[in-house]
Amino acid sequence: MKHQVITHIKELLQVRPLPLAPLKGNELKIIPKIEDAYLILEDNTVVDFGAMEDFNAEAWTHAERIDAKDRFVLPAFCDSHTHAVFAAYREHEFRDRIQGLSYQEIASKGGGILNSALKISSISEEELLERSLERVLSMQKSGTGALEIKSGYGLDLANELKLLRVIQQIKSKVDFPVKSTFLAAHALPSAYKNNKDGYVDLIVKEWVPEVVRENLADFVDIFVETGYFDIKDLEKIHDAVSNSGLKLKVHANQFSAFGAVPKACALNALSVDHLEVMEKRDFQALKDSSTMATLLPACSFYLKIPYAPARTLCEWDIPIALASDFNPGSSPTHNLFFIWSLACIHMNLTPEEALNALTINAAFAMGIQDTHGAIFKGYRGKLILTEKAPSIAYFPYAFGDNHLFKMLN
Ligand code: NIG
Ligand code: FE
Repeated sequence: MKHQVITHIKELLQVRPLPLAPLKGNELKIIPKIEDAYLILEDNTVVDFGAMEDFNAEAWTHAERIDAKDRFVLPAFCDSHTHAVFAAYREHEFRDRIQGLSYQEIASKGGGILNSALKISSISEEELLERSLERVLSMQKSGTGALEIKSGYGLDLANELKLLRVIQQIKSKVDFPVKSTFLAAHALPSAYKNNKDGYVDLIVKEWVPEVVRENLADFVDIFVETGYFDIKDLEKIHDAVSNSGLKLKVHANQFSAFGAVPKACALNALSVDHLEVMEKRDFQALKDSSTMATLLPACSFYLKIPYAPARTLCEWDIPIALASDFNPGSSPTHNLFFIWSLACIHMNLTPEEALNALTINAAFAMGIQDTHGAIFKGYRGKLILTEKAPSIAYFPYAFGDNHLFKMLN
């Protein structure tokens, strides 16, 4: 048996007994902690923790010791919304954006999602895996210890399957949970430019059954937005997966609000993501549902669009999660410490609210709340050992840095 003993931890954060419910309202404001703490890992399982005054030093003289003086220990972040499998970055669009073009203008002149799809069709599965795995491994270096990845840059069956198979291979090559989401309804391929119904029919009648047969996805997603897909399409996608066990996630209300949130909640979606533009009926629907509101502040930062109304969601007692939306077009970062900063600086969340949204509620948004997001006896996930810091607020305050000193486990 291998033991690792971490001692003199300034604060051991997010220690909670299971089971947990999604955190909302005032619950989000609290991060349980043990000051001047120790934690013991036995073969990658947390078997004990507590205050240093209760630490039995003699019992552990031969174990590997890490002195965590002035450092914090917390559960690894869960990134419940990424598009981490793509062929290439789109930094030339960054130049277009500096010249004043909007996300939609870039998309309509052949950039955007269609540009990523073109690149996917000309890259081999091996090459795509190599590039994507490299990104996923580097996500760990800024504290991500669980991850969801979407397809959606294939837009034909062969290439969507290529993306999903790459995600499946990533799952087998990393030692933390990866969830896979089928997002064929991400954009209309050029061949279906004037035939949206034809494309959605293809997805629901032919592609979904194939993905289910090959067991290639945990969730299904759709980009509900003006110029992309509508409520009717959302219903069709839901109906197509309703007997398959695939849970629904929805890109909703990024640029406009027209009922996607109430519909997604009524369909029992696991999460609705984006929510930059919100109507009263959206808050009402979320409040009465078990659907997680997932906010993506890096997308707002990069596209210079409004931030989701996080404070209002908290006032409504609606649980919120935060994620990176890592993708080459609207959020080229996967650093969740930076997301933590954006949530505090631009959404006025407190450091504690944002941390709960990046851990426990993010775990709910990807269905891993029984194993990840909080530290408990029996926890087998990764743990963040931070750099030295005076208090928890330092992490979002000192923005742009990676505050991870070492990932434990
Ligand atoms: O979540 N909104 C749609 N999809 C992505 C962007 C994808 C892209 O531009 O490549 C998003 O922001
Ligand atoms: Fe997205």
